Amino acid sequence: MAAELGGLAAAFSVEILPECDSTNSRLLADPPPEDGRIAVLAADRQTAGRGRRGRAWQSWPGAGLTFSVLWHFAPGAPVPAGLSLVVGLAVARALEDLGVEGVQLKWPNDVLVNGHKIAGILIELVSGRGRPLAAVIGVGINLRLPPDAEIESAFGVTDLARCLDALPSASRLLGLVLAQLHHFVGICEMAGFDGLRGAWQQRNAFADLPVRILGEAEPLAGTCVGVDVDGALLLQTPDGLRRVLSGDVSLRVA
Ligand code: BTN
Repeated sequence: MAAELGGLAAAFSVEILPECDSTNSRLLADPPPEDGRIAVLAADRQTAGRGRRGRAWQSWPGAGLTFSVLWHFAPGAPVPAGLSLVVGLAVARALEDLGVEGVQLKWPNDVLVNGHKIAGILIELVSGRGRPLAAVIGVGINLRLPPDAEIESAFGVTDLARCLDALPSASRLLGLVLAQLHHFVGICEMAGFDGLRGAWQQRNAFADLPVRILGEAEPLAGTCVGVDVDGALLLQTPDGLRRVLSGDVSLRVA
């Protein structure tokens, strides 16, 4: 991991556990004392991994990389707009650096390869006195899923073993993702999401396709025309252009 992080290694404190319930839950319940470094907790296996929308994130020994990053915001700063999309972009770039082809992003932050999900992201905010203080950024990447794994997913799943001839170590992959996270979340905090919008849209799995958004009061159907400067999904609907904010919603092919 040190080789991938280079000079950034000192910016992170990384703890790797053989097993825990959920790296997100652990960092939320028991954050390490602040020492100026970005705390990272990885686990070889999670017994109660969590996904978006109340779903479980299953794990098997050696089958995936599962980790969470505690990202503190500057005092008084808001949650950076587009954070959730930028984390997906960072994971996508790390996979591309390894030589994976066909990496796509599904709004707000799933990472797909040729239409199948390879990584999921769960971001949970930590607040104090009504203000956002930090985000726990949880990432799960499929390395080599068991052949009989049953995973509920609207798009089907894939893993790195199916994309690459030689599987990288979990530690190398962690280093690559952390380096990209540092780069992209840093830009997003300093300059906003707008400058990263093109990079996100280049990888948009549903560009110009008809989609449905589930989870709002009424399902919303339209054509996915991209994302806005703050990361909101832009849908062309019969009633005009609609913005969908990243909340507890899910995107499906219409
Ligand atoms: C999703 O696609 O629904 C999001 C999945 C997020 C899974 C990761 S694994 C590490 C971290 N700990 C958790 O319990 N969840 C996230």
